[in-house]
Amino acid sequence: MNRVSIHFLPDDVKIEVPYGTLLLDAALEAGVFIRAACGGSGACGQCKVRVVKGSVEALMEEKVHAAARAAGYVLACQTRAISDVTIEIPLAKVGRKVIPRDEAERMRLTARPMESPIVPEPDPMTIRVFMHPPAPATHDNVSDDERLMRTLKVEHEIYPVAAGLDVLKQLPHEARKEDWEFTAYLEVETCHDTHNPWYRLTRVQAGHPSYPSMALAVDIGTTSLWGELVNVDTGEVKARASRYNPQISMGDDVISRIVYALKKDGLERLQTQVVKGINEIVEECLQKSKLPVDCITYMVAAGNTVMTHLFLGLYPKYLREWPYVPAAHNVAPVPASVLGLNLPPQTHVRVFPGVASYVGGDIVSGVLANGMWQDEEMTLFIDIGTNGEIVAGNKDLLMTASCSAGPAFEGGGLEFGMRAAPGAIEGILIDPETFEPMIRTIDSKPALGICGSGIINIISQMLKIGILNQNGKYASDAKTPRIREGRSGLEYVICWAKESGLNQDIVLTEVDLDNILRAKAAMFSGYTCLLDKIGLTVDALDRVIIAGAFGSFINLDHAVTIGLLPDIPREKFLFIGNSSLKGARLACIDRKLYQKSREIAHAMTNVELSEDPTYMDNFMAALFLPHTKVELFPSVQLGQ
Ligand code: FES
Repeated sequence: MNRVSIHFLPDDVKIEVPYGTLLLDAALEAGVFIRAACGGSGACGQCKVRVVKGSVEALMEEKVHAAARAAGYVLACQTRAISDVTIEIPLAKVGRKVIPRDEAERMRLTARPMESPIVPEPDPMTIRVFMHPPAPATHDNVSDDERLMRTLKVEHEIYPVAAGLDVLKQLPHEARKEDWEFTAYLEVETCHDTHNPWYRLTRVQAGHPSYPSMALAVDIGTTSLWGELVNVDTGEVKARASRYNPQISMGDDVISRIVYALKKDGLERLQTQVVKGINEIVEECLQKSKLPVDCITYMVAAGNTVMTHLFLGLYPKYLREWPYVPAAHNVAPVPASVLGLNLPPQTHVRVFPGVASYVGGDIVSGVLANGMWQDEEMTLFIDIGTNGEIVAGNKDLLMTASCSAGPAFEGGGLEFGMRAAPGAIEGILIDPETFEPMIRTIDSKPALGICGSGIINIISQMLKIGILNQNGKYASDAKTPRIREGRSGLEYVICWAKESGLNQDIVLTEVDLDNILRAKAAMFSGYTCLLDKIGLTVDALDRVIIAGAFGSFINLDHAVTIGLLPDIPREKFLFIGNSSLKGARLACIDRKLYQKSREIAHAMTNVELSEDPTYMDNFMAALFLPHTKVELFPSVQLGQ
């Protein structure tokens, strides 16, 4: 992609960005402060800048008077750079001086995005076979199922085939509806001993459908559900959808969900709720793709062990009682109708295998997607979610552990926290003199709350400019109206009510800060203990792959500054996003990769951190920003 250079004056900061980047995004990435109170929605009109040189494309002009437009003024959040440009930020208007920055702050500090290195070969779990056998006659009066099997074997070389009662009940009707033109749906299995394929008939349908064969990939997160509708023959994603896991109203984290499941009808209610959420995702994907529900031939889901149990209706009690035993790790395909999913009744649902009570199919799916199971490089894989999971190793060794980080980095449990969805504040820059924030929201929608990446960025910056102490408390003497007494102690106003998409101020409270501190301490302690088990320190790592439902602005320096990520060279970090969903998508396209996930799960060794006394010691030491042992974070310079 073509890149263009943007030169910001009077800061004298230059940055290269992809052609067409919004000026506000470029400023955020470069660390240049522009007042942007509405998150980039074009509502506040405060982000005016002057184009001194070069070409730009303005998406919206109403907020800029004609005379100002003629003088070169544009809204930074609504203007794209389409050549090398020089931009002047009017100092008088925002009442700020030039902020000197060192070279390090001018660099792009976001983790490099990582696409899965695994290339799937289209090999669907369920194939569709278009059939037109001869109709029964006096000289050929074999049963309907025999006719079907015979045609599959003779004309398509598909055998052996097993058929259950459900599908045999459909067969006489569907076969005759269109004069023996029908479609057979066959799930492909591989014999353990001979490695030869065998088939399970899951559906028969009159006629030959004109729509493509699709699969549904689903990530069942404790906080959020994500789904993709994937063409099984091409691998193309036709639609995506996400929403909160409706189980949230029954508990924020996996432990409280288990507790709820043990109440009368609790498990049934939890199962109904998650299925309701997935059904909504199915509906949205079908609406977006304009495809009928019959196009869905199977579904692959990845979730942590507790979420998988609750989705399948498996009794979760013993997951939280020593010695922490799941009901099942490897579950045979389940018909959608048994689970209550609004999919064709015999559509089979597969879940990723788990490893332990708190290391589930989502992390196995993530390991499948990130490729560490086949690489030499010593890798630390961190999935920052409500249930923080960690894997360390390479193709020779895979060690894993989990820690209960809580939902803070997914926006849960915070007064204005939200997942990385439109309207979430994900990019933020605080002017070190005025303490005014410049905010950027996802999809430039009016601010509704703050997501994980925004939380990391804001805490780090508040710490650096001295309005937040290292124990996570606000400096009460900071000269800004944005720090004020709230209902639960001091709070910082990120966005005033009049500039937000809510009718109230968006704030970050000290209670929120406490939750975030605990979440980051749990993650830090988790990966430190795990590496210790295999005799490594963070310095021995070749790379760190970060997964999680963040926005796209994870600033590595900020994540290191708060003590969430290890202080190692920034080029070692990669960001893979929702790796659980990526793994589920790979399995939808290539059934061999689903089989591979079973081998990966088998190869992973779980370390039970709750049994490890050093975990709690590390956790307590990490309840400080960045850490009580500053020597672990040599690059973090505070108070400068
Ligand atoms: S109008 Fe651009 S940030 Fe508000």
